[in-house]
Amino acid sequence: MSQGKVLVLHGPNLNLLGSRQPEIYGRETLDDVNNALRETAAGHDWGIDCFQSNHEGALIDAIHAARLDGTRAIIINPAAYTHTSVALLDALNAFEGRVYEVHISNVHQREAFRHHSYVSLRADGVIAGLGTQGYQAALAAVLAAATP
Ligand code: DQA
Repeated sequence: MSQGKVLVLHGPNLNLLGSRQPEIYGRETLDDVNNALRETAAGHDWGIDCFQSNHEGALIDAIHAARLDGTRAIIINPAAYTHTSVALLDALNAFEGRVYEVHISNVHQREAFRHHSYVSLRADGVIAGLGTQGYQAALAAVLAAATP
């Protein structure tokens, strides 16, 4: 029986991962990232849903759905919405499970507007600057937090 389900959300422009500014975001594609997460989750008997959208409302709808379908944790890279979206923060505040915020790049080393995150007000943990391995670190935190 599955231990639970985790939702992985990717915000705007992350569909271009692998070809978008590879000097910052690396060469791995979003499919590479999601497949690696699926493999790790399956190895621990967890279910995983991965979803990317360039639209704020679609990400919010996915969080609302996660409130109702037994999802135990959300791993989210809100991308540029990190720095702008009170609506995404409000949606995450309505979700009762654990929330981990991931940034591929070290946002604190970049432009000042990337230093503030609305989502961090809700996140149980924030990972930045580990490249795409940051998603695996977040998943490890989900698995560890769920272990009795
Ligand atoms: C990002 C950092 C954000 O500032 C940026 O808008 C992104 C990606 C990251 O993963 O490093 O699109 O969230």
